[in-house]
Amino acid sequence: MSELLEQIQKRKTFGIIAHPDAGKTTLTEKLLLFGGAIQEAGAVKSNKVKKGATSDFMEIERQRGISVATSVLAFEYRGHKINILDTPGHKDFAEDTYRTLTAVDSVIVVVDVAKGVEEQTEKLVQVCRMRNIPMIVFINKLDREGKDAFDLLDEVEQKLGLTVVPLSLPIGMGGDFQGIYNLWEKNIEFFLEEKKQRVGESVKITDVTDPKVDELVGEKAAATLREELELIESVYPEFNRDDYMAGNQQPVFFGSALNNFGVRELLDAFIDIAPNPQPKESSIRLVRPEEPQFTGFVFKIHANMDPKHRDRLAFVKIVSGTFKRNENYLLVREGKKMKFAAPSAFFADKKEIVDQSFPGDIVGLHDTGNFRIGDTLTAGEKLQFKGIPSFSPEHFRYINNDDPLKAKQLAKGVDQLMDEGVAQLFTLEMNGRKIIGTVGALQYEVIQYRLEHEYGAKCSYEPLSIHKACWVEADEKSEEFKEFARLKQRFLARDKYNQLVFLADSSFTIHMTEEKFPSIKLHFISEFK
Ligand code: G4P
Repeated sequence: MSELLEQIQKRKTFGIIAHPDAGKTTLTEKLLLFGGAIQEAGAVKSNKVKKGATSDFMEIERQRGISVATSVLAFEYRGHKINILDTPGHKDFAEDTYRTLTAVDSVIVVVDVAKGVEEQTEKLVQVCRMRNIPMIVFINKLDREGKDAFDLLDEVEQKLGLTVVPLSLPIGMGGDFQGIYNLWEKNIEFFLEEKKQRVGESVKITDVTDPKVDELVGEKAAATLREELELIESVYPEFNRDDYMAGNQQPVFFGSALNNFGVRELLDAFIDIAPNPQPKESSIRLVRPEEPQFTGFVFKIHANMDPKHRDRLAFVKIVSGTFKRNENYLLVREGKKMKFAAPSAFFADKKEIVDQSFPGDIVGLHDTGNFRIGDTLTAGEKLQFKGIPSFSPEHFRYINNDDPLKAKQLAKGVDQLMDEGVAQLFTLEMNGRKIIGTVGALQYEVIQYRLEHEYGAKCSYEPLSIHKACWVEADEKSEEFKEFARLKQRFLARDKYNQLVFLADSSFTIHMTEEKFPSIKLHFISEFK
């Protein structure tokens, strides 16, 4: 087997998605402990932003070293190289998470056993479903009193629109929690609370009717377990890897990340079933990982907070071939050849310069302002990867320059922050005024802070009542479009890529516009062709 193929088959790149507080950071840390990538609990810093606290965000930004390192966490387990891509759970950073999801080959969804399916999980899973990303669900915090396992499975199916296949089943819960029956490995693992940070004992059970089960968990719990397993057999489909891979079926595991319980089972099953780096659609063809020529795309850009060094780090997911240091690569959008003397690879606690990287890996490239989110790099072929769309922002404000002498700095700062994907810029067709759209209100303060500290520019905002940005699909030469443009001229703008956007002030307006101009299609997402 060629080295490239061998490396591809070793790799699994995934993301963990969850509503804040469901246990994503804790689970990540436990996975890294299994991989031996960290030695003790507490080593992974949560880059979580508490509700609306700008100071938290600034603090995190100041500790960029940490958040860059936690953007990608790599570890080895059972001969595999696993890359975890960090996905912020905070809703104001949802756009960042959506983009990161374009670079994963599968995800683990963490659900809190007591809170069940929460809002942010719903949104993120919806994005994964749109892309048919294989998902495994981990129901966390089983050491606490929570919802009934079957009610939760129903909730996951209904609220998340998934087809679940339980591969483990809790025996008791909260105070009565005894352990987990693992349907995947056919064994019972006991929960030993006093051994918190360690893995409990596990007993191999080949047949649940074995009287040993009664001895181990007590007659009552054994009877319940048998009944529930029967129920699972009759109600849920059998696990089928092809269905999982196609996004049509989602296995579910139960456990407690904090107590390191059920985590090894999750990880082992993940290694057994989760996909290796997958092919990716481009503007001209499907690109396969095993092709020898390098291709990759930028899914994240991290700014350097040190004002003296304005360089940034672009995160590139390798789609095909071997990426080599100091080799000439083509930035397709610009038609520009570039080479990279110090590409970084990421590990749990550090980043390091690498000579070569393989599909599934993420390399960090130093950038002085060339890259944009969504950019494609290749060995020379002029193809562009698809699938990093913008979603309609939730908030809109005019941005004004507060220091006339620094207009240039402001323009440059805004431009670069938009390239990083911090927010979206719309320019009104009518008068050229600039509007910033964000997913959360927090971003406005972040932009203001960064413009001042990184670019020496001052800005202020003016409120603007916009409900949604709708990307317009229309024949711009048609009479209908001309009439639409005349009536709505005050609300028409261009996004950063010069696409036409209708800034609608209410859902009623959108509805009325669609009725009045049936040939004009309005989209809440920038990529619709
Ligand atoms: P997040 O990244 O998804 O936002 O969640 P995080 O891991 O930070 O976990 C949120 C809280 O839930 C933490 O408590 C964490 O200790 C707790 N937690 C995670 N897994 C379990 C579990 O299996 N059982 C129980 N009982 N709790 C769990 P915290 O009080 O917010 O933080 P900390 O002070 O403990 O760090």
